[in-house]
Amino acid sequence: MSENTSHSHSERKPGAKREMSRRQFLAYTLGGTTGFLAAGVIVPMVRFAVDPVLQPKSASDWVKVVEESKITAEPKSFKFQVHQVDGWYESDPELEAWIAKDSSGKIFALNPTCKHLGCTVNWNNNPSYKDQYFCPCHGAHYTKEGKNLAVAPAPLDEYDVKIENGFVYLGELHANSIVK
Ligand code: FES
Repeated sequence: MSENTSHSHSERKPGAKREMSRRQFLAYTLGGTTGFLAAGVIVPMVRFAVDPVLQPKSASDWVKVVEESKITAEPKSFKFQVHQVDGWYESDPELEAWIAKDSSGKIFALNPTCKHLGCTVNWNNNPSYKDQYFCPCHGAHYTKEGKNLAVAPAPLDEYDVKIENGFVYLGELHANSIVK
């Protein structure tokens, strides 16, 4: 008796199974195709989001460097750290900026990397070039605004500057826009 019941039960099963299989087949096929197509779009997006090597270099964040009140017409050197992500490697290199006010009182910041071969320039460090930036490597010198006067082929690079709540913030480094 119990054998019969189980037999008739098992007779229904193959049909139901086939029905399910067909449905499942369609579902898998269509779902699979959609999934495959979606994967073609999503996987690169996910990879782009996860893999820092593939990420575009983010625009540099603003770094709070010094109180605005400390800046005068005479350039002064300030060190600050930036957080850099290069592929999987993260670092916080220390950068330097020479910050001063121009004749109208506007604050600007220059990078001291010499535009000749990359040595570091200093303000007012050579008596022959008073009130200028001078590079000890091959004698390049620059005006207070970074204009190249000799040896170097271009003016000193300039940081973006913003003033917020009494502090000077420095941003991206770019070609000098002060000197023409
Ligand atoms: S690197 Fe500065 S003058 Fe050559």
